[in-house]
Amino acid sequence: MINNIESLWSEKVNSMKKSVIRELLKLTQKEGIISFAGGLPDPALFPVDDLSKCTEYVLQTHGSKALQYGLTEGDLGLRKELATRYRQIEGLNIDENNIVITTASQQGLDLVGRVFLDKGDVVMCALPSYLGGINAFSSYGAEIKGVKLDENGMSATALDDEINKTKAEGKKVKFIYLVPDFQNPAGITMNRQRRLDILDIAYKHNLPIIEDSPYREVRFDGEPQEMFQSLDKKGFVITLGSLSKVLAPGFRIGWAMGDPIFLDKIVTVKQVADLCSSSFVQMIAAEYFRQGYYAENIKKIIKAYREKRDAMLGALEEFMPEGVTWTHPEGGLFLFVILPKNMNSEALFEKAIERNVAFVIGNVFHCDNSGKNTMRINFSFSSIEDNIEGVRRLSEVIKEMM
Ligand SMILES: Cc1ncc(COP(=O)(O)O)c(C=O)c1O
Repeated sequence: MINNIESLWSEKVNSMKKSVIRELLKLTQKEGIISFAGGLPDPALFPVDDLSKCTEYVLQTHGSKALQYGLTEGDLGLRKELATRYRQIEGLNIDENNIVITTASQQGLDLVGRVFLDKGDVVMCALPSYLGGINAFSSYGAEIKGVKLDENGMSATALDDEINKTKAEGKKVKFIYLVPDFQNPAGITMNRQRRLDILDIAYKHNLPIIEDSPYREVRFDGEPQEMFQSLDKKGFVITLGSLSKVLAPGFRIGWAMGDPIFLDKIVTVKQVADLCSSSFVQMIAAEYFRQGYYAENIKKIIKAYREKRDAMLGALEEFMPEGVTWTHPEGGLFLFVILPKNMNSEALFEKAIERNVAFVIGNVFHCDNSGKNTMRINFSFSSIEDNIEGVRRLSEVIKEMM
């Protein structure tokens, strides 16, 4: 063992924290536990047979290309398939030159951090926000400022106030980070007017918007709200997408989409990060789209998760005591439970684990350390029966603590 190894660690690694959620997930591996903790898709929905056919085809017909290094920008075939889907489904005016493939969207967040952030810069996020985003930006020394959410998404007036305040302190705001659809962790979708208001604030302060959008296609009901990428006519938005929630997280395939001026810098930093994402997996994914499997499978995912969400909402209604409220997501993988103000979900977590049910403490998604009375609940991973039973167990623990 090297002597005094601590003296060798970089300042950067010393300032980084392990993801609380990934640590929690270890706890939830225990036999018999019902886990609402991870953001995991239902593995029964992984299209193993169709992917086997695509894999076989790619190896037989393009084996030598698939097993070789690829372009940093990503496989042209996959970029074309993704651009076609965005044109068809979202009406975006884009092509393959507006897309760079990343090693899932977590890498997209990291690359955005590398492109924009120096120590002391400020990022505007929602309160609460996706922890992986907060951690990625903090790792570049950025200060994360939280802006409160209401039922229509991040408050536009609070965002403007916070930006003005930050500027008055002599600090530099670099971008606004948002998950507009079925937000992780709160399950809230930003309405159209709020999107337009936030876009105006971005224009006024000359700030890019990072639209983190891994759940967008997983909509159960309600009206789709136009993407920031579509509403923006001035090239201010970088959208991050991912196949993790709509195909398989094991693929580690995502993308950054926007004006080539941003993408050129993303490519520069990606060359340092990993040269390129797996050519093999990208070509399988492209084939999966080309054969029409994706369009069919997403319908199955939506149907299955809608049933799971409904079961969970029904169980919350049936079992939770008065004083506990929750969000009603129109899509995605999560809902957010708000306990009475004086309750602490960390204490609840310990008791819940004893009863074999797990969730994520909402506090970890709040960059200002608030939200101690909140919890994030995933409804996509467990079965319908477990969603109901898990909520019943949670409600018992909550009643005891009350
Ligand atoms: C909002 C958001 N962004 C990014 C990610 C990262 O996903 P992946 O790297 O698997 O694409 C997640 C995962 O849960 C997420 O919820």
